[in-house]
Amino acid sequence: MPVRLTTLCENTVGALGFSGEWGLSILVEAGGEAVLLDAGLGDAVVKNADVGGVDLGKISKVVISHGHADHTGGLRPLLRRLGKQVEVYGHPAMWDKKYAYVKPPAGGTGRYRYIGVPYCREELEGLGASFVLHREPVWLNENMVVTGEVPMTTSFEQVDDNMFVNKDGDFVPDELPDDRALVVKTAKGLVVVLGCAHRGMVNTLLHAREITGVQEIYAVVGGTHLIRAKEDQLRETVEALRRLGVARIGVSHCTGLAAAALLAREFGAAFFFNNAGTVVDL
Ligand SMILES: [Fe+2]
Ligand SMILES: [Fe+2]
Repeated sequence: MPVRLTTLCENTVGALGFSGEWGLSILVEAGGEAVLLDAGLGDAVVKNADVGGVDLGKISKVVISHGHADHTGGLRPLLRRLGKQVEVYGHPAMWDKKYAYVKPPAGGTGRYRYIGVPYCREELEGLGASFVLHREPVWLNENMVVTGEVPMTTSFEQVDDNMFVNKDGDFVPDELPDDRALVVKTAKGLVVVLGCAHRGMVNTLLHAREITGVQEIYAVVGGTHLIRAKEDQLRETVEALRRLGVARIGVSHCTGLAAAALLAREFGAAFFFNNAGTVVDL
């Protein structure tokens, strides 16, 4: 079963006329169903869909990988465009009050910056969103599954220490339990579509194998969150991707240019930049 991935929002662009926007949104089409993973930060999804001639009306379900603004801010313009009731899959923690701790460049005391969903749930429901909140894996159809919470199993991946949740006025570390991925079963193996992989790209791939019972991973595409990774994590990640036999690696968003360049060099023709305007058939 072929899978088509169309990237409608990414930090950078790969095709004429598209707009870049810090965030991510990937349209996943397989087996006659079109599912949108994430909605970007603003109106890039809607604008880029028009530029690319993508009919958003075919979207049957929306999956939110996690509750950060750069994956959810586009929900309002998207829902307005859809003009219909649509199921939106998320984790209950997507509604946590999420913050990043930002240090000033010169050192000294930093500040907490709000980076959570920029809307209240009721507003999005008023626009047609019907939220399906889950912690466990959820099968959207016989071939597509949203992972549910990703266990932290590798020794070299951890959640960023600058992510926080405001609980009753206190800032506590955000373990990002809401960070999930969308996985498609194909004849060639799994296609794993990542939002940000805050809980680790390799952890997510291992979990995808676990919940599907499929050992072959054909492709991984999306945000890998290697942007803050140190040398040893990058090396372990490359080794793990080799061991897992991943045949296509398309990186986006929070991968960062340095990690993307390394993966490009290590994986050659298997690698691609997955930015706004990229359409790939897997
Ligand atoms: Fe992100
Ligand atoms: Fe994120």
